[in-house]
Formats: sequence, structure tokens, C-alpha cells
Amino acid sequence: MRLLITGGAGFIGSNLADQALDAGWKVAVLDDLSSGRRENVPSAAEFHQVDIQDADAVEQAFAAFKPTAVSHQAAQASVAISVREPQKDASINIIGSINVMQSCVRHKVAHLVFASTGGAIYGEVPDGTRASIATIPMPLSPYACSKFAVEKYLDCFRHEHGLNFTVLRYANVYGPRQDPHGEAGVVAIFCNRMLANEPVSVFARTTVGDPGCVRDYVFIADVVKANMAALQGQIPDRVLNVGTGRETNTLQLAEHIRTTLASKSEIRYGDRRAGDVERSLLDADRLAELLGPTVTVDEGLRITAEWFRQRAAKA
Ligand SMILES: NC(=O)c1ccc[n+]([C@@H]2O[C@H](COP(=O)([O-])OP(=O)(O)OC[C@H]3O[C@@H](n4cnc5c(N)ncnc54)[C@H](O)[C@@H]3O)[C@@H](O)[C@H]2O)c1
Repeated sequence: MRLLITGGAGFIGSNLADQALDAGWKVAVLDDLSSGRRENVPSAAEFHQVDIQDADAVEQAFAAFKPTAVSHQAAQASVAISVREPQKDASINIIGSINVMQSCVRHKVAHLVFASTGGAIYGEVPDGTRASIATIPMPLSPYACSKFAVEKYLDCFRHEHGLNFTVLRYANVYGPRQDPHGEAGVVAIFCNRMLANEPVSVFARTTVGDPGCVRDYVFIADVVKANMAALQGQIPDRVLNVGTGRETNTLQLAEHIRTTLASKSEIRYGDRRAGDVERSLLDADRLAELLGPTVTVDEGLRITAEWFRQRAAKA
């Protein structure tokens, strides 16, 4: 397997690069380092510093590496930035993705995996329910719109050019190397602040003092596992939710991390943040059926908190 990972200097892409190299695959990373870090790219991987908005540069990287499979992780991944700068979001996430798709077609790539968002694409998920892939997407941010648009472009590219793909709709992903700015950035923020015994804020779901928004937190190892399986054609579904189906509110998350890190941080309560979906939870039964049980939040947060502790100790 010759795997090209766009966004491979970022949180999810770099963890995938490690796993793919462990499996004996040849790996190339294509990333503009806008949010990713060069040191995240494993030394055994080829590196192309390329902006996916530059079609010619993307094409040159494909021509140089000749991938047989592509995992497309590169994106403007912040909901807040997408609200402030929707043109920038669309340019990177839609135009950039079309550039990647066109190179996949030209180079007859056998399989493309696309990192979509289960956390944002369904909009509000009412209490007592979980969003399945049969749920009609209701994107409420430019970011969610751009991800949904790319899913539709993929259908067109399959229809027109026979492009073979899998869409993975991730819940809120957390784990080692995560950045505070991503969709599940709160885990990184809480770990960093709690290690320094600084106060943390639980932003309101509706009213200041409530336990905050509800999310489906999925551990990075499960996301990497889903990518590896999809790239090898082991996922028959064209669209798959990658989550746990278990809900956690922000207060529970804060208390959990505080206990794990034996921190003295104070938990404070803040206003509702514009653009935050109140509740997001995925029906992930199909993922469990295909790949087995996902890592529990207890276990995943323990590993993640320990990683942040070790990183802080080295700094
Ligand atoms: N982290 C989550 O909770 C989550 C949830 C749902 C979906 N996703 C999606 O998963 C993917 C990976 O997310 P992540 O959390 O690893 O984010 P990340 O920011 O750590 O990684 C994204 C990478 O893409 C690169 N990039 C950004 N713009 C680029 C451009 N124009 N050209 C080339 N490279 C570019 C960045 O430098 C970075 O290395 C993204 O597509 C994101 O939208 C993430």
C-alpha cells in the first residue's frame, strides 16, 4: 500500500501515519503546516509541504509519490473560523478537496477516505436520540456545510469517474497530539489548564451554571482503526459514523480529567458560545459491528491525560 495522507502533520493524520508505517505501508504526508507541525510527521514518511488549494502542487505531489490510497484529512477544521471566514473555509475545504479528488482520479487511486464530521453535520441531536447515517444532515455552520458539500462531490466523482471512497463522519475526536483548536479541543484545553491547576470554564448549553453541551467523544485509536479498515476496503458502507454512541457533558468531562490528573483546578461556568451545537451524539452501532467495541471515555482520557502530563514535564 502506498498511502498519501493529506493533513498528515495534524492530530488525526499523524496518528494514522504512525499506524500505517507500523503496518509496513509506504507513507507520504501532504500538509501546508497551517495548523499541523512538522515534528508530528514521522521521519519514515515522505513530506510534501503543499497547500491543497494549489491544484498544480497537489498534482505534483501525487505524481512524485504515486499513491494507491489516499486519506484526506487536511482541512480548515475550526467551526469558529468557518463562521468568521466562510470564504476561506470553503476555499480550503471544498476547492482543496476537489483538487485532491481530481488528482485521485488522474492517478487511478484505488481508495479515498474522507474525514467528514458527525459532530457537526447533523446539527442539533434531540435528547434521547442518536444521529444515524439515515438522519438527514442539518449543517448549522459553514464548516459543516463544506464537509457535507464534499460528501456530495464525492458521489458525483464516483458517478462520473468511478472514484472509490469511504466517508468517515467523526464524532469529537480526542487523544495524544490533539490541538486545542479542533472540534474536541476542549480535552486539550482542560488537560493543559488542569496540569497547571488553572481554572477551567464550562460554557452553558442553554443557561449559565448548567452542565454544558453534550458530545460523543471518540478516542483517536478508534478513528485510526476506522481509517485503516476503510483504506483496505474492509468497510462496505460508503458513509460510516465514527463515534461511541455514549454521551458526555462538559462538566462530566472536566470532573473526569480533574480526577485523572489529581488537579486542584476550579471549575467555573460561562455563557453559551455562539455556534455551539447543544447536543451531538452518534449512532455508532454499525462501527462496533464492523470493528468491535470502541475505547471507553475512562480509558481514553486516562491515556490522553497521561500524554499531556508527560509533554508538560518535558517542556
Ligand atoms: N478532531 C476532531 O474532533 C474532528 C471531528 C470531525 C472531523 N474532523 C476532521 O478530521 C480532519 C483532521 O482533523 P484534526 O483534528 O487532525 O485537525 P488538525 O488541524 O490537527 O489537522 C489538519 C491538518 O490539515 C492541514 N491543513 C489545513 N489546511 C491545509 C491546506 N490548505 N493544505 C494542506 N494542509 C492543510 C493542517 O496543517 C493540519 O496539519 C479534518 O478534516 C477535520 O475537519 C476532526
